[in-house]
Formats: sequence, structure tokens, C-alpha cells
Amino acid sequence: MPPSNALPPGPKGTLIGGNLRQFMTRRLGFFLDVARTHGDLASFRFGPRRMFLASHPDLIEQVLVTDAKHYIKHFGARMYKPVLGNGLVTSEGDFWLRQRRLAQPAFLKSRVLSYAPVMGELTRRMLAGWRPGELVDVHFEFSGLTSAIALKTLFGLDDQEDRETFVNTLRQAFDLMSARFRSLIRLPSWLPTPRNLRLKRAVASLNRVVDGFIAAGRARKEPGDDLLSRLVAAQDEDGTRMTDRQLRDEAMTLYLAGHETTALTLSWSWVLLARHPRVEEKLVAEWRRVLGGRAPTPDDFPHLPYTEAVITEAMRVYPPVYLIGREATTDLELGGYRVKKGYTIFMSQWVSHRDPRYFPDPEEFRPERWTDGLAKRLPKYAYYPFGGGPRVCIGNTFALMEATLILAAVGQRYRFTLTDDAVIDVNPQITLLPLYGIPAVLQLR
Ligand code: HEM
Repeated sequence: MPPSNALPPGPKGTLIGGNLRQFMTRRLGFFLDVARTHGDLASFRFGPRRMFLASHPDLIEQVLVTDAKHYIKHFGARMYKPVLGNGLVTSEGDFWLRQRRLAQPAFLKSRVLSYAPVMGELTRRMLAGWRPGELVDVHFEFSGLTSAIALKTLFGLDDQEDRETFVNTLRQAFDLMSARFRSLIRLPSWLPTPRNLRLKRAVASLNRVVDGFIAAGRARKEPGDDLLSRLVAAQDEDGTRMTDRQLRDEAMTLYLAGHETTALTLSWSWVLLARHPRVEEKLVAEWRRVLGGRAPTPDDFPHLPYTEAVITEAMRVYPPVYLIGREATTDLELGGYRVKKGYTIFMSQWVSHRDPRYFPDPEEFRPERWTDGLAKRLPKYAYYPFGGGPRVCIGNTFALMEATLILAAVGQRYRFTLTDDAVIDVNPQITLLPLYGIPAVLQLR
């Protein structure tokens, strides 16, 4: 049957903005309502842009896998180009494919495993600075840790001062870019408005910092075993290598794509554990039995099935990336409807991971649901914290190893007691941040 020219059902919007306001003010609730009310494929508008929300695993698979070559990243992802440049997250087509091929070997499991000792060492350093009874912001602590790990594994960077320079210049550039993103009146980025000029200056200083790291990496006689050295050494089949510009864009991309998402996996896991003491008890019992107080290594992973289930379930309830999108580059079909060139298809992990067809009592944090082979029984795109298809997260093995090592190392020493007045809520930006941080008291186990 030819696809219907009608639009899938969807919520009413205003004449000019469509449903943009609902998205800006309550995006998680908005997407959930749209899917629950209008079904597996729903339609709405942001201003003149036509959007679909696909919430059935088969439709998601069709967009991410089957029809992947007819889609590019959506307009939101493209807005990060000022800082991310043409790195893996934002690039497209043959250029993306070449970069992905060059970067892929650095993310092979055997390579990723070699970073475990660095992760363990930096976690030990963080723990050495903690005092029992201290009040900390859990998210701040784990962002700091995963940032240090990313800088060390990416650039071989271990110097506190270099780290601070990088993090501060990056924050400045990112804040300016996000302000531009949020603003309703967005003048073209080439216009010399005061804000555009500030952003340009911030990006230039950031580039200088990263170029310095790259130059230092290139100058080393023996290539280091950091990711950047591996990218420097990576060669295409025709013998060409990445230019400094490409290296910089990839390095920024890997840092930004990798550290906050992993920190969020850990932060939300601690919140859930603090709220579910029985799960925490069972988890600690597994660590006692398998690790007996020592730091974990990747060899322990096969013996830590409950730890894996806890992390899997935490990413189901609080997916660090809660929304991905694609834009059609030609007219297509999806779920019996016509997708016209330029339409955006959203897929939301927040919505899919709460689908009661696949996850009974979806709001409940229940790691046990994963311990009897659920992952194998589910349709592939019922659970997709790392996306899927050709553009699946390149760092998924890295992230899962990092989260597991840190959770078990920290959790054997400390537990986090959320303060009585702590208001823990989500703040969906590019990733699923905590709205007011996660204040908790450190208690020795
Ligand atoms: C728990 C942690 C992480 C989560 C939840 C996560 C999630 C995701 C998702 C959903 C995508 C696909 C986006 C899309 O389809 O539009 C993605 C892509 C990507 N991620 Fe991750 N990620 C994590 C950790 C990492 C790490 C540690 C790295 C690098 C060290 C990384 C690097 C990337 C890159 C480069 C891409 C783009 C891949 C491409 O398009 O070829 N991520 N990630």
C-alpha cells in the first residue's frame, strides 16, 4: 500500500509556534503525553518544522538502521557545530564514514580495556580526597572524575592546571553556544553581533588549548597510549591521516560526548540506590562476595551480573541521552505515513524505556527485571541508551566499563545518603542533568 499523505495523529498546537512551547517548558512530559495519547507514530510542529515522534521499536529500527542512509542528524544536533566542529557526532556522509573508520580501532574492546588502570587510579585519588560525613554534590564529584578520566585517556593529560584551563575555556564556549541555542532570535553566526564575537573568541581560545595538546602529542617520540595518539597514528586505507583540525574536532567531540553521559549514569545510579536500600544491599553483597573489598578489574565483570543489571536499569529509568533525532534527506515512508524530505523524526529513550508493553511498572527501579535474560527477549529498539545502527555510540564499551569500575570501587567504600531537603529532579538539556544537583552525605560502609 502506498504511504498515506495524511499526517499521523498528534497534539494540537498554536498557529505560529505549533508545540514548541510545550517542548521548551516540559519536554519529557510532553513527549510521554504525545506517545501515550497519539500512539507509536505521532506528529506535531515546532514553528514551521514538521516533527514525528516514533515510539515503536520497529519504527525506531527503520529510522536508525534500515533507512539510515536516507537520514542525517536533526537540526538540534547540527547547532553544536561551533564547538564540536565536524567531529563524529555532527558530521555526515562520506566524511563521517571515513572518520568513523579511522576512530573505530581505538574503541576496540582490547584497546578500551587498557584504560581500566587509569580509571581505577583516578577513582582512588578522588576517594582519597573524601571525608566521611562530608556533604557533596554527587553529580559534581562524578563529573569531575569522568572529566579527569576523559582528559587522561584522550590526551594523556594529568596536570591539574592544564585540566582547569581546558575545562574553563570549554565551559565558556559551551555556555555561549547554549545561550545562542536557547535564544528565540538567532541571528546568523557570521554576523558580528557582540554575542557571536564572544563565542568566536571563546572557541578560538579553546582551539588554542586543544591544539597545544595535539602538538605535544605529535612531538612525543614514542606514541602514547592515549586515544589522541591512537587517532594521530590512525591511517586510512589510502595512507592519509587526520589533519590537526580533524583531530581537534574529534578530541572535543569525544570529550563532550563521553564524560558527562558516563557521569550521569553514575549519578542517577547513586540516587536510585539511595532510594532503594534493598537493591543496594544486594549489590554490596555481590561486591563482598566477588571482590572482597579490592578494586574491581574488567576480569571481574562476568562475575558481577547484578552490578550490570543495576547500571542497565539505571539507564532505563534515567537515560543520560533521552532524545535523538534524524532529518529525512528524501521522501520516505514510516509506519504507513509519508515522511517528506526535511521532516524530523524524534525517538525518545525517556518514552521508549517507560513503555509498559516491554517494561511492566515502568516507573519502578527493578534491576531484577534484567537478570533472567530480558535483554535477549526484548525487540532490539525497546531499550537503546546508546542509540543504534551505523551511528551507534562509539564509546559504549568504554562507558560501561568505566561506570562498572567506578560504581564497584566507590560503592564498596561509601554510601550516599540524600539530604532530607534534597529536591532531586531532572533537567533535560542535551543530556538528562539533575535540576538542583544531588546533595548527599558521604557515609563509610
Ligand atoms: C553512558 C554513557 C553514554 C551514553 C548514554 C551515550 C549515548 C550515545 C547515544 C545515544 C549516541 C547516538 C546519538 C544519535 O544517534 O544521534 C551516541 C553517539 C556517540 N557517542 Fe556516546 N554515549 C555514552 C558514552 C560515550 C563515550 C564514553 C564516548 C567516547 C569516549 C562517546 C562517544 C560518542 C560518539 C563519538 C558518538 C557519535 C558516533 C557517530 O555518530 O558515529 N559516548 N552516544
